[in-house]
Parts: sequence; C-alpha cells; structure tokens
Amino acid sequence: MAMRLWRAFLATATVLASGAPAAMAQSSVTPMPARATRFADKPAIAFGTAWYPEQWPESRWDADLAWMKEAGFNTVRIAEFAWSTMEPREGEFHFEWLDRAIAAARRHGIMVVLGTPTAAPPAWLTQKYPDVLRVDEDGTRATHGGRRQFSFASQRYRDFARRIATKMAQRYGNNPDIVGWQIDNEIGPPSFGKEAISRWHAFLKERYGSIDNLNQRWATEYWSQHYNDFDQIPLHATGQQNPALLLDFKHFTTATWTDYVMNQASAIRAHADPRQFITTNTMFWNGGFDHFKLHRGLDLAAWDNYIQDADPDWVANGADHDLVRGYKQRNFWLMETQAGRVDWVPVNRALKPGQVREMGWQAIAHGADAILYWELRPARNGQETYYGTVLGQDGTPAPIFDEIAKLGSEIRKASDALADTNPVYRMAMLFSYDSRWAIDLQRLHKDFDPIDEFTDFYRPFRNGSQGVAVLSPSADLSAYPLVVAPALNVMTQEEADHLSAYVRAGGNLVLGPRSGMKDDADALWPERQPGPLQPLLGARVEQFYALDEPVQLAGDFGEGEASIWAEWLKPQSKDVRIRARYADPGGWLDGKPAIVSRKVGKGSITYIGAWLEPAAMRDVAQQLMDDAGVRPMIPNVPEGVEIGERSGAGKHILIAINHGDSPKPVAIPANALPVAGEVANDMLRGHGVAVFRVPAGN
Ligand code: GAL
Repeated sequence: MAMRLWRAFLATATVLASGAPAAMAQSSVTPMPARATRFADKPAIAFGTAWYPEQWPESRWDADLAWMKEAGFNTVRIAEFAWSTMEPREGEFHFEWLDRAIAAARRHGIMVVLGTPTAAPPAWLTQKYPDVLRVDEDGTRATHGGRRQFSFASQRYRDFARRIATKMAQRYGNNPDIVGWQIDNEIGPPSFGKEAISRWHAFLKERYGSIDNLNQRWATEYWSQHYNDFDQIPLHATGQQNPALLLDFKHFTTATWTDYVMNQASAIRAHADPRQFITTNTMFWNGGFDHFKLHRGLDLAAWDNYIQDADPDWVANGADHDLVRGYKQRNFWLMETQAGRVDWVPVNRALKPGQVREMGWQAIAHGADAILYWELRPARNGQETYYGTVLGQDGTPAPIFDEIAKLGSEIRKASDALADTNPVYRMAMLFSYDSRWAIDLQRLHKDFDPIDEFTDFYRPFRNGSQGVAVLSPSADLSAYPLVVAPALNVMTQEEADHLSAYVRAGGNLVLGPRSGMKDDADALWPERQPGPLQPLLGARVEQFYALDEPVQLAGDFGEGEASIWAEWLKPQSKDVRIRARYADPGGWLDGKPAIVSRKVGKGSITYIGAWLEPAAMRDVAQQLMDDAGVRPMIPNVPEGVEIGERSGAGKHILIAINHGDSPKPVAIPANALPVAGEVANDMLRGHGVAVFRVPAGN
C-alpha cells in the first residue's frame, strides 16, 4: 500500500495521503514554487548570514565576504536597522554605501535580501516627532536608544516608514542581486497611546457594526460593563478586563500589525520586480498576533529560530517549523538562527558540537529553503556584543565556522536534489491563535499552557507519521486522512461547518480537550462542548475538571494517565463508540467516558477529553494513525532520531537526524543514494545527519 501511494505521490505534490479515502488522495495542497527565490539563476537553497556593513570600515568588506564564501554562504541580509545611515537627517538620503555593499556581495557571488530599517528609528525622527514613540499599557512612552520603540498605530511613523521603503524599492526594486525584502524586524510590541485608542475604536466599530451588537457579543450586562458608545471602550491587553475585550485586543493587534506591514509591502511592490519576494521575520511561537492572517498579503513566511537554553527539544522545534510553513503552506526562510549561543537568557550556553549543523538540516527537513545565521561577527559595541557569531570581532573564524562551512558544502551538494521539493505530509494538525489566546486568558488550571498541550499532541503524531502539516482551522484539509485539533477552544460556526464537511467527505477528525467551547467573541457556545460539532460527534462534554493529581484511564488503546485536565464525555447517539474510560474511585470521573469516536459515512470524528501523559498519548496517537492508515516512511525509528522527507519534481529526499549524543540504528532503504552526511552500517552517530535520494519505486 505504502509503495503504491509513494509512486502516486511522487507524481503529484506535497501531501502523501497514505491510507486516505480514494476521493481524498486525489486532491493536493496547491503546489507552489519550492525554492529559495523566484530567480531561476539563483541557488535553490539560500545559505548565509545577517551582515551589517554599515558597522565596519569599507576596507574590511571584501575580507568579510571572502570568509562568507569560504563558509559556503550564497546570501546576505543587509540594511535592517541601518536607517540612521541611509537617512542621517530628515529627507537626506545616502544609499551610495549600500550600492557599494550590494556590488561587493555580487562580486563574491552572494545574493542579497534587503531589510527595511523600521525596527530602529533614528534619533532625529524620535526627537522631532515624539508622538511616533510607543506608549506602554501603563502610559509610559518609550525612549530612544533601544529598538522597536515606535508605535504601530502612528500614522506619522507609517509615513516615514513608507518613504524609506519606497526610496529603497525605487533604487533596488529592479536590481537582480536583490532576491527579496524583509519588512521591519520581529514586529511585536503594541502601543496604547492616543492613536492606538482611536484605531481600536474604529476597529471595533468595523468588527461589530453597532454598539448593541458588541454589547450582546461581549455580554456586557455582566458586572455593569454595558457601553453606550465605542469611544467608551478602554484599550487593554491585560488585567481584570472582560476576556472578550482582551481577545479582541489580539484581533486588533493582528489587524494593526497587518496593515503596518502592508503599508511597506505595498510601497515596495509598486516598484519591485515581481520575482523579489516580500516577507517579515517572526519569532518562536509568538502570540502577539495571528500569523496566519498577517501572512496573507506576504509572499512567504520567514522566522528566527533560537534555542535559548542550547538544549533543543527538537520535536517542539520541529512543530514551530511546521507552523511557520503552514502560514503560507509554502517553503519558508529561516531568516535567523544562532551560530552557537544567544545572549539573552540567564546562562547562554553554546549548542554542542554538531548541533548547529543538525538544526540546519532539521529546518530543511521541515521545509526551509534558506538558512541564515545571526550574525557574521559581533558589533564592537552595542547591546549584543556577547552573541555567538561566525567570525570573531577580529574578522577571523570562530570555532563554529568549520561546522557551518561543512553544512554549507553539504547544502551545495544537496541543492539540486532539494530544489523544487516540499516536505512530505501524512497528516495535519490545526493550530488556532484564537483558541490559544482564549485558553491563556482563562486557563482554569495554571499549567494548561496551550503551546505545551499542542506540543504534547504533536510529539507522538510527528514521531509516528514522520510528517505533520500544521494548518489553520480554515485551511483546505481534503488531502489529509487524519486531522488533529488538540484544543480548538474557539470554534466559529463556519469552522465547524468546514470540519464537518471534511469528515463527511471521508476525513478523520480528532478533537482534544476544551474544543468547541467558545465563539470568536470568546462567548460560551449555548451548547456544551464541542458546541457546533456536538451533533456530528453525537456526544457532549458533561463536565470538565482541572486536575491536581493524575487520573487513570483505560480503553482499547491500553491504559495510562491523564493530568492537568479531564472531561467527562457523554454519548447521545447509539452509534458513538466509547474508546476509553476513567478509573477515579470516589471521584467525579469514575467510570466516565474519556475518549469517544463516531463513524460518519467514510469518515470519523473522535473526541479526546483529557490531556494525556506521554505514554498514553503515544498509544492513543498510534491507534488513531492506524485507524486512518497513516504510516511512516521508516518504521521503528529509535527515540531521538528524526526522519524528514521532501519530495517533488520527481525527486524524493530522505533526511535522517540523530538528535541524541550516542549512535543510533536507522534502517535506510537499501537502494537509497547518499547525498550528504554520514551513516555507516545503518548506524547514525550522535548528532549525525544523513541525506539520501530515494529512487522512485520505494
Ligand atoms: C533576533 C533579532 C536580531 C538579533 C537576534 C539575537 O531576535 O532579530 O536582530 O537581535 O535576535 O538573538
């Protein structure tokens, strides 16, 4: 079965719907060009670094670029944060230095991503127009000297930002050395000043139409919160506020950051070669805005992957890669990653030898078509002089250089094999920012962290399937035989209809605890969970319980424990199958259903009412994957070994990574052809990587 589907898959696109119903297996996720740039003559996989030529004497540039070449770099990202060099005084522009830096990169065969400098406004701007500065929730206005001190709501700031972006695009929009644009840098902190408040009121007016509607959706009769007018509504992100207001605050930051970014994107688009991509770089699990929505108008997603304690939980890290790929369902850029250590945690340990390379290959396995290090060498002064870098401050290689250069030469060798390939997905998981926020606003159990819960679900599904797409609840799911939504707390009627249609068409949907509880104004659905999906499930949540001690459960998956959260499920239809029950002598949950499933035509819906301990989660996940016919490429892979696959353009690439310290066996298919890395006698050494091309037919 797996063999036959492989062949069918290789001929089509990204999703391998192993075991999917016939009708579903035929559909696929929209194929997109899967390579780093849209320039046919540029490398398929970008490898490089952040470079800040404005911080160094020009006489040093060529030596820096020569070292970059030596490291195997083919890409630099420049100009982000260089506003005071490009526009040292209001309206006075100096781009000659940037022209020369780009030309120098070209001489060394290095392509360029240009960053707009708007994360770091110059002093002339913030001094003359202090109204552009961000205001904290407590009313304190930011001051000059750091970065991201601007207000995302300031029209004046947007005008200045648009002007510098326009000037750059007019100058470089048709320069063939520029392959793409990064807008700003890690957008995030909101503002609470006057302009933000008036945008907030306009946003609410637009969202609710009338104040009566808002009052009704927010249930403002509660605690006398009724508003007569939009202008009465305070702007808050925290505190003793109605959670409906706080959830809408997140919708507001999403809308405001989106048009902040699009203000610059549209300015660039007006002048740029359509082959130059436009993106922005985002952060690890950042919850400041809905990333699916923000990326709608951008060409691709990019993110900055830092392992702060240098002790990677590689599965959780892989989940974030998958999430980022899901923003556009397209391969992404790893715009920044650490060349060793960070400098912003209490103990900034370095990654172990081999781990920088390993993390690079992991990114590629999950769909990165670009890896850029931060940064080439430390600025001689400033906030980040202790950061891990590729070169030392003297401009000669740091110890990590050789490992990076090794990865660089492997990537160069593997580039043809990887070009135009996408990660292979055998199932999907749904991540919803609204659900994450709604749970965070009212956890009920302090340890119910929605990211941890998502990761606990993801872990066994990723290990068992070796390919999980992470998607928004409104994405097209028709190519996936199994879709798991760990805690889809906020569920709109539209999303419920979409998920029902998926199940009715033969899909297997799994909901985790707390699903289907709230609407998108954070109000409880009038029905018990899973709210609008209750009729499809034919069962409901009778009651939910925060747990201070684990509770036992047993069923057709075996037995195990739940902790933190458990729900008592109650079947309402006769055809609902109880798949696990709690054993809780003397407690509310004793003998009550914990997991239920119902077949719906050729599809099914399952509800898991508890946050399961890892062993139980693994067994339940395995059973659900078996039910849906989801099988991995390489079975029985030892703990700590990750298998990633990319496929497309008639190619199938297998990437095996040993994230552990000791050697592990990996059964590589006999006819697989080595592309890079090392594996000897089917053993992969600690922190070893092996990349193979698997001929069609496997
Ligand atoms: C990122 C940022 C970079 C650099 C790096 C260090 O968040 O984009 O400019 O500060 O962190 O970790």
